[in-house]
Amino acid sequence: MKSYALISLAILLALIVGVIHAQDELCPAGLPERPALSRHIEQEDILSGKLGFDELLAHGEELFSVLFNVCDGQGRPATTGGVAAREADEIAFSRVSAPDSNSCFSCHNQPRVGGGAEFVGNVFLLAQHADPVLETTAMMSSNHRNPLGMFGAGPIEMLALEMTRDLQALREAARSKARDQGDSVTVALVSKGVSFGELTMAADGAQDSSGIEGVDHDLVIKPFHQSGTKISLRQFSANAMNQHHGMQAEERFDLNPEIMDADFDRDGVQRELTIGDITAVTLFQAALGTPGRLLPAQPERHQDAIRGEALFDQIGCTTCHVPELRLESRFFSDPNPFNPSNTLTDMSQTVRFDMTEQGQEPRLERDGAGAILRAFTDLKRHSLCDPADQPNAIRFFCNETLRDSRPDVNGRHGSEFFITRKLWDVGSSAPYGHRGDLTTVSEAILMHGGEARAARDAFTELPFADQRAVVEFLLSLQVLPALE
Ligand code: HEC
Ligand code: HEC
Repeated sequence: MKSYALISLAILLALIVGVIHAQDELCPAGLPERPALSRHIEQEDILSGKLGFDELLAHGEELFSVLFNVCDGQGRPATTGGVAAREADEIAFSRVSAPDSNSCFSCHNQPRVGGGAEFVGNVFLLAQHADPVLETTAMMSSNHRNPLGMFGAGPIEMLALEMTRDLQALREAARSKARDQGDSVTVALVSKGVSFGELTMAADGAQDSSGIEGVDHDLVIKPFHQSGTKISLRQFSANAMNQHHGMQAEERFDLNPEIMDADFDRDGVQRELTIGDITAVTLFQAALGTPGRLLPAQPERHQDAIRGEALFDQIGCTTCHVPELRLESRFFSDPNPFNPSNTLTDMSQTVRFDMTEQGQEPRLERDGAGAILRAFTDLKRHSLCDPADQPNAIRFFCNETLRDSRPDVNGRHGSEFFITRKLWDVGSSAPYGHRGDLTTVSEAILMHGGEARAARDAFTELPFADQRAVVEFLLSLQVLPALE
């Protein structure tokens, strides 16, 4: 025990000396340049309660807003944005394949820290795998995506978690029943009233996934990324830190059994982001204010916004943009048990907070032991692409050029699948659509094709005054001013 403690101490000292040494080489004492981040924090100090919740959020906000520099370990000469090794590259920044910016805040700042950005903050998705892409932004090597805001993201992650548990429980019940009966069993995959198709289990445990809709065959709801491919804020943040800034999370690199390299990116800096740092930036985002409703003061517009809500339901928008869903638990909990193996999964390190009592105001609405989410999404992937709307297929939510080349995660050819966009902040999130190339809410509605064509047509057939009411309703859904 004692010698184990001594060895740990020796490793810790070696790490600290390593960090100081590397940083001193890059940013020697005597020069005013120092790491931009004021300090790192340790997970143990969060778990033991040594660091209070407010202190944790403040550190998370600093990590999210600071302009990382080489003294912090900014840059990743020998690592791609997709976390693979590459030949060391001299090019420090590339607007396409990244590092493309110095801080999360650079792209997540509207209407304030933690929000989205306009077109100029777009990311060229997929380019991080063909890193560096220096000569083309053509859609075969990259794909425009507009930044989303993270207001309400904590509740969204927990909603996805509860839905995943429901769907997986249905699968396991079907598995046991099929085994007991000696015959195949088909089960409807419904969670919180949202249908994800059906699943058939054979007596020998084989899964027929052909009837599953809008979620991967593992039945894990992945609420983040407009394509619905990332499980948790933690997973996303560790990716983003590496991709956008060349800042390596130790859980992803140094301590990851598949890598175990303290300076995988060969920039001379170790322990760039501790487990505690990633917890802080995750909780900062999870605890951002919950979007809400701001009705116009002018009586006519006020009436329209109320009337528009009912019309939004009548014309079928709520089949995907579900107005309210209930959370059984009102607690946010990190790490997410469904995190992939390159993200913290150790459940003995869980940090929790009550989303209805703690964090930025306005907070999530409490309902008994749980809470109500008014996010206007079903967390399901849909295709709004409609060949009838050609030739301008990119604008019609189609993602045209990638569609034929890259099967989506379900094995279907169709990367035009996007998760139903949350609308609870739509009045504050211009521009619109996954590319951010639509400047008004009305344009975004008119671009709905494919699975949403009927609702869109119902909208265009409404009398003009009713169309105006639907848009007025949507514009009333906003990121509210922070009340603290
Ligand atoms: C260069 C711009 C840029 C920078 C810098 C950036 N992001 Fe993003 N972020 C985006 C874009 C674009 C998306 C939307 C991606 C998509 O859906 O395809 C996004 C999405 C996200 C999401 C998912 C939101 C959702 O609801 O799906 C999270 C979480 C996030 N970013 C966190 C971060 C963090 C943490 C940092 C800093 C380490 C960061 N981002 C830095 C552009 C950026
Ligand atoms: C079949 C499901 C579905 C239906 C029905 C549907 N939507 Fe959508 N909606 C989506 C998806 C998916 C997106 C994201 C599309 C993208 O960016 O590729 C979206 C995006 C939006 C956006 C853009 C939001 C933003 O921040 O970019 C608005 C506005 C919107 N929907 C309003 C409506 C209205 C109004 C109706 C009814 C007329 C409607 N939707 C019907 C699935 C649906």
